Amino acid sequence: MQTQATVLGRFSWKANQPNVAQQIAGAFIGDLGITSHLFPTENCTEAQSACRHAVSGGQPELSAQQLESITFYHFALAVPSRRNADDPQVKAGEQLFSQLKCDACHTPTLTTGEFPQLPALAHQPIHPYTDLLLHDMGTQLADGRPDYEATGQEWRTPPLWGMGLIEKINGHSTLLHDGRARNVLEAILWHDGEAKISKEAVKKLSKTDRAALIEFLNSL
Ligand code: HEC
Repeated sequence: MQTQATVLGRFSWKANQPNVAQQIAGAFIGDLGITSHLFPTENCTEAQSACRHAVSGGQPELSAQQLESITFYHFALAVPSRRNADDPQVKAGEQLFSQLKCDACHTPTLTTGEFPQLPALAHQPIHPYTDLLLHDMGTQLADGRPDYEATGQEWRTPPLWGMGLIEKINGHSTLLHDGRARNVLEAILWHDGEAKISKEAVKKLSKTDRAALIEFLNSL
């Protein structure tokens, strides 16, 4: 949208948004019906006459300056710090995470690149536990809905940082793109396709090892 070209996606379940500004502008138009210079056309179908005749808040409704401020606010948000990182059970779970090849997709460490908007964030090691790439997760998780170059069976690896605080902050523990998993273990057991080997290995773990893996995920 911004560059009028197909570029590498980073954000959202299917990695269909290339940067934070476009993700935010996409939410403004898609979720709130507010236009911006990136999405200048109201999100009404032919059939929605009330929507089509509703009062406009300007053209666009969200100014470029407002979009820039909101984007900057998101750049500056911190992720939660880890809890219990040195706990022996958490450490054991961390080793299992690597042995089970979870880290093949949920990459523990990435380094940020140039970031002129906020130079303090440039060239920093971060621990998002994602490769930000699409993976074929098998037929059970497929939504059959291709999105740009993502097939109906592909999903972007979601980051796992903050995982252990989801229930406390959001008041629910549901996971995966459609919220079908009630907890971390259910989310893992839905893994298939490229992640089948990891899933099968988790099924063979002892009760103690499985508890350690979950404890590690909850420390993120
Ligand atoms: C082949 C890549 C791949 C491997 C290997 C993999 N995952 Fe995932 N993981 C994904 C993708 C893609 C999703 C999102 C799937 C969806 O939402 O339908 C996901 C989702 C998750 C979620 C839910 C996150 C959320 O926010 O909803 C958890 C927890 C998770 N994985 C843990 C693990 C663990 C633990 C392992 C190792 C046993 C593992 N994953 C191995 C790619 C992978």
